Amino acid sequence: MEHHLRSHLAKRLDAFACHSHGLILLLICSLLSIFCSALAVAGSIGINYGRVANNLPSPRQAVQLMQSCSLRKVKLYDADARVLRALAYTQMEVIIGFPNEQVYSIARKPSLARKWIKRNVAKHIRATNITAISVGNEVLTSTRGITKLLLPAMRNLHDALVALNLESQVKLSTPHALNVLSNSFPPSAGAFRPDIATSVMKPLLDFLSQTGSFVMINAYPYFAYRANPAVISLDYTLFRPNAGVKDPQTGLVYTNLLDAQLDAVFAAMASLGHKDLRIVVTETGWPSKGDPTETGVSVSNAAAYNGNLINHITTSNGTPMKPGVPVDVFIFALFNEDLKPGPESERNYGLFYPDQSMVYDVGMQKTKSPAIGNKPQLQQSSWCVAKPGVSKSSLQAALDYACGLGKADCSRIQVGQTCFDPNTLVDHASYAFNSYYQKNQKQTGTCDFGGTAMVVQQDPSTTKCAYPQN
Ligand SMILES: *[C@@H]1O[C@H](CO)[C@@H](O)[C@H](O)[C@H]1NC(C)=O
Repeated sequence: MEHHLRSHLAKRLDAFACHSHGLILLLICSLLSIFCSALAVAGSIGINYGRVANNLPSPRQAVQLMQSCSLRKVKLYDADARVLRALAYTQMEVIIGFPNEQVYSIARKPSLARKWIKRNVAKHIRATNITAISVGNEVLTSTRGITKLLLPAMRNLHDALVALNLESQVKLSTPHALNVLSNSFPPSAGAFRPDIATSVMKPLLDFLSQTGSFVMINAYPYFAYRANPAVISLDYTLFRPNAGVKDPQTGLVYTNLLDAQLDAVFAAMASLGHKDLRIVVTETGWPSKGDPTETGVSVSNAAAYNGNLINHITTSNGTPMKPGVPVDVFIFALFNEDLKPGPESERNYGLFYPDQSMVYDVGMQKTKSPAIGNKPQLQQSSWCVAKPGVSKSSLQAALDYACGLGKADCSRIQVGQTCFDPNTLVDHASYAFNSYYQKNQKQTGTCDFGGTAMVVQQDPSTTKCAYPQN
């Protein structure tokens, strides 16, 4: 009860609009800003602006599109001067990319590192808020020839930043694919591949820690699902209501695969002596189109993944192993990119088509007028249900609160009424939580109930029992 009231007070929701082609599109990318004490912290949503295509709008138009979606963080794969100029004076935070191809030469020549930083960072930084450089992309798993050179390259770039007094403003890190792990289940047993753990990851993590930086992870629950659809539940992968997966070592219950993947990385880092490094998810996403053989690819799955992801990241309070540590996420990607090699799915991760129309309405809804009022609101269809795996006693206490002081409409879950069946605590609590959530206009903090409730985008109604939705 106390938890419930606390989060209700502590969170403020900024809902915001996304204007495109004269229409106002509402994005639920709702950033939470916490203005009371640090009781709860939510992560933020950014976007990857990949440009492996020959049909994209100009950088200026792309930046306008991001801004109209109230996206405030963007990650680039290079440091293209036109793009950096388009991002100037926009209040956007920018992660620029340093290409794999140059790791070799920069690692060997400090003078080249200084040149690169001058041209691509120092020259722009007064106008464009460059906050980090992602050095290479998935080097340890895709470009193994330069594994040993990655850290020397980062050191040279760091020295160049120090020489220009930019090292506190601009952080250096390098995005890893999740297969730097040799084990990711259960999360508490997460471990780096033995061939890179102490030789490569340990010094790299030491460097990130010493320089006040963070770990970059590209995490695609979609890949895990595609490889193992018989074992991994789609609902678990898409942040939908599901039975949850328990880590037998810690007893922590995971309601989605992304959290489990991130905790596996946290555990792997802890085993190398790094318990305090922050993780930023530099890429995650779901393709909307693929080859017939690519299991799980569809517009509706992509919309569910990204919509539920945004909701989860902006309303949750860290992962089960690291509560209170916000995870920032960059969705891959802004546009479909027609020139990407590989299977059809590779060219279809975008939230937008090159003509700037939406691929699907994940978190975005057309409205007739700018719906930015003073009243915080989530614009997407959503319901509030009981979380799987929480203790009976907490759930019962939350249900009692919802039907009592919370003034939820609990008449339908009484004996003989339409929502009495299924007669389980979880179903009754879900009905009551949702009633409270809808009555309170879905304001942030109204689907918490001491951590026993969660927001979903799938209608939990059964044929007999309709869950209200407004
Ligand atoms: C740049 O981004 C950082 C990180 O969020 C922020 O603290 C800073 O105020 C921003 N600077 C400008 C000039 O907007």
